[in-house]
Amino acid sequence: MRSMSDDHTHVQEFFTARAADWDSRFPDDGPAYAAAVAALELREGDRVLDAGCGTGRALPPLRAAVGSSGVVLGADLTPAMLQAAVRAGRDQEGRLLLADVAALPLRSGSLDAVFAAGLIAHLPHPLTNLRELARGVRRGGTLALFHPVGRVALAARQGRRITPDDLRAEGNLRPLLARSGWRMTSYVDEDARFLAVAVREG
Ligand SMILES: C[S@@+](CC[C@H](N)C(=O)[O-])C[C@H]1O[C@@H](n2cnc3c(N)ncnc32)[C@H](O)[C@@H]1O
Repeated sequence: MRSMSDDHTHVQEFFTARAADWDSRFPDDGPAYAAAVAALELREGDRVLDAGCGTGRALPPLRAAVGSSGVVLGADLTPAMLQAAVRAGRDQEGRLLLADVAALPLRSGSLDAVFAAGLIAHLPHPLTNLRELARGVRRGGTLALFHPVGRVALAARQGRRITPDDLRAEGNLRPLLARSGWRMTSYVDEDARFLAVAVREG
């Protein structure tokens, strides 16, 4: 059985090797991130977490959405990705936390929203990990699970095919979210993006 630290080591090794050129590999994604952030319908002064923030590509649009009175947090467990975020100046847009989203260092209900780009496929225990994100968000708050390409395009890029048990298939994701405290309100899976939005249930 894989232990929690095995899961961390695997993720950290994978992303440490990719951190330095992460942004330059995907230079045109900015507008797609801004559009996905808009789906959270954030307001001035809101508190939002970018879960698995990596190099912090979502932090500028998140900051723009909540304004200077809002709180923007970026949590990631790979130090090299956070170091790349600092080099890119993204620590000016939000507070970076070296943290596992499976155990958020936050009070229950303290967030208005969570944005998570490219994260869910890396979560070792999706049900409990999504429950932990729900714990951090107030009732009625929102979650966006995003990827700048859709499932089929991503699988092709990775040299694989999507299988029926794919976590992000609508028929799998909707009940998974329901069991972890979220009600899925929209789902888009097209070549140019994957975006599922959910609301925190009471
Ligand atoms: C595919 S990258 C996406 C990075 C960034 N969100 C983006 O869109 O560019 C996934 C990120 O999630 C982080 N990650 C994976 N599992 C995590 C966990 N349990 N807690 C915190 N971060 C995690 C990885 O370190 C990596 O930086």
